[in-house]
Amino acid sequence: MHRNQSDDSRNIFVLEAENEEHTVAFAGALAKLAVPGTVLAVDGDLGAGKTRFAQAFAAAIGVRGIVNSPTYTIIKEYEGASLPFYHMDVYRLTLEEADELGLDEYFHGDGVTLVEWASIIAPILPPERLHIRLEATGGQSRKISCLPMGIEYESWCRRLGLQQVEEEGLRQ
Ligand SMILES: Nc1ncnc2c1ncn2[C@@H]1O[C@H](COP(=O)(O)OP(=O)(O)OP(=O)(O)O)[C@@H](O)[C@H]1O
Ligand SMILES: [Mg+2]
Repeated sequence: MHRNQSDDSRNIFVLEAENEEHTVAFAGALAKLAVPGTVLAVDGDLGAGKTRFAQAFAAAIGVRGIVNSPTYTIIKEYEGASLPFYHMDVYRLTLEEADELGLDEYFHGDGVTLVEWASIIAPILPPERLHIRLEATGGQSRKISCLPMGIEYESWCRRLGLQQVEEEGLRQ
């Protein structure tokens, strides 16, 4: 589908996290905006911090206890204080396998869904979602790039005070 220059969903917003605490703080700020049906599509290389980000987000919405990587279980459900939290890691799945799991009930459920390695299943993600890419730029430093799909998520990025940049560098 052709999308022209004025398509707002192409805007990218960036945060340079200097350390882990900074990533945790960003996850906390994002958690304050979360509502039922929020979908966070997280990508980044092995060890970039996807699970660490998910843990911080979960803690911020009041999930008690340990949030582990769901690499083998694919999906874990948690009860947060304000919202349920659905944590997925689709690293081991193909798009076809993921399609058969019926993930829509999570995406459109009462909670927040956070998907690690989300780009693998991009075609079956809901059209409105926030892509978050983590890239290691040093020992503890991470470039966090957000690509909002839909005006609601774009307004989140603006409210979070992220730096808006040209679209180059984060194509989904
Ligand atoms: N700024 C930072 N943000 C996030 N994690 C950081 C940061 N600095 C250091 N870390 C560390 O980097 C590691 C990230 O591991 P994590 O399991 O979150 O990566 P991942 O992206 O989920 O990897 P995988 O693809 O293997 O699941 C953790 O040990 C975390 O403590
Ligand atoms: Mg992980």
